[in-house]
Amino acid sequence: MSINKLKERYLLISKYNTAAALLQWDFETHMPKKAAEKRADVIGEISGKAFEMSVSDEIGKLLEDAQKEELNEVERAIVKVGKKEYDKFKKIPSDLFKELNISASKAQAAWEEAKTKNDFNIFKPHLEKVVDLTKKVADHLGYEENRYDALLDLYEPGLKTSELKKVIEPLREFLVNYLNKLDNGKKPDNSILKRYFPIEKQKELSLRALKLMKYDFDAGRMDISMHPFTTTIGPNDVRITTRYNEHDLNDSLYSTIHEGGHALYEQGIPEEFSGLPIGDGASMAIHESQSRFWENIIGRSLEFWNYFYNDLIEVFPEFKENTPEEIFKAVNFVERSFIRTEADEVTYNLHIMLRFEIEEALINDRIKVEDLPKIWNEKMKDYLGVVPEKDSEGVLQDVHWAHGSFGYFPSYMLGNLYSAQFYNKMRKDLQDLDKQISEGNFEPALKWLRDKIHSKGSMYEPGELVKMVTGESLNPKYFMDYIENKFNKVYEL
Ligand code: CO
Repeated sequence: MSINKLKERYLLISKYNTAAALLQWDFETHMPKKAAEKRADVIGEISGKAFEMSVSDEIGKLLEDAQKEELNEVERAIVKVGKKEYDKFKKIPSDLFKELNISASKAQAAWEEAKTKNDFNIFKPHLEKVVDLTKKVADHLGYEENRYDALLDLYEPGLKTSELKKVIEPLREFLVNYLNKLDNGKKPDNSILKRYFPIEKQKELSLRALKLMKYDFDAGRMDISMHPFTTTIGPNDVRITTRYNEHDLNDSLYSTIHEGGHALYEQGIPEEFSGLPIGDGASMAIHESQSRFWENIIGRSLEFWNYFYNDLIEVFPEFKENTPEEIFKAVNFVERSFIRTEADEVTYNLHIMLRFEIEEALINDRIKVEDLPKIWNEKMKDYLGVVPEKDSEGVLQDVHWAHGSFGYFPSYMLGNLYSAQFYNKMRKDLQDLDKQISEGNFEPALKWLRDKIHSKGSMYEPGELVKMVTGESLNPKYFMDYIENKFNKVYEL
């Protein structure tokens, strides 16, 4: 049976990916600085080998043959997802792929310099090159309506730009208006989170949160890295990292809960899917829906703080002078700020829309790279009402475009929208959800996510999955309701 041979091949490839992932994890957590160059070389070699095997003629033939066999539902999904991946990479000429990789690494170096020196012109020619090559990639991948569709599909399979625009329109209007409304509300005091908090104690608090979420420490671990991330080394080995800021309690606690949400998803994917094309999350955005669910919907709720308050004052007794409600409000402080990664739940999606609109116009030749700083600042003014003084805090803040990752940004926004839509359905299914959370009992919520989402791996496209889970396609209404409900409480409106 070709399907069995196909599975064997995928499992072999996954061993290389395991090795590369472990080396990469070490690179970002424990490796001595001087080892970086050689290590990058080894990782490149091993993942290059894995990539070569995954686009080999042998895999192509096995996929073809397996399609003709009698398969069960899981096997059909393996072939369907595997074939889509295979065809996608086959469509991009390897020379173009290489050229883009080389240009992207040069662009990243230029971006770093441009950001440090606050000079967009250093980055401009490199970005022009990357945009040019990315357009070629999109043309090879093919599309029907919009060139950007080809890129969006790399991160959110099946989603069309036109659908995305339909979601964004009402959401943007709502968020811009709601942000104005908050100006008349009662601003929470978030200075209580900006005192001195020793790292060891912050670590203890983060670990308590992870235990509460039922993150499996026998199948994972937590370390420190510059940028927090989650990585699946292999089955029963899903690791997260966090970072600490001694003067901000938010940073490590919520980075940890966020990554913990990603990790719960990975730990919940059936072991028999591991190493196969269906052994990942359904998409970047569905993955982000899981991290945001735990970070924001659970972790920034009043119910959570009604329970977790006791842990907080055990670790940091100075919070005895505050109520759980004050902490709930402080962690939901809203601010019109320049930096996406520091944005709150209300403003975050506005940061994303701006990026989406710019990259979609760039890819379709409606604007030029040289116009980006100007357009960026205009949109910041329109959507957030603030304009950065320096490009380093504006158009130069994110690395994504240097990498050629056009089509990636919407995933963050979609993750927020999906999480609210899932939450709405979860509340209907679990009548006692609020009570459970305020008692520190997260098991029913986790079990719901496991049954409906985690256990499916990437058998279904995100659009199909959302329909299966909630009974309807992506609908931004649930996010808007959630925001209004929550922030009316926070700002006493
Ligand atoms: Co994330």
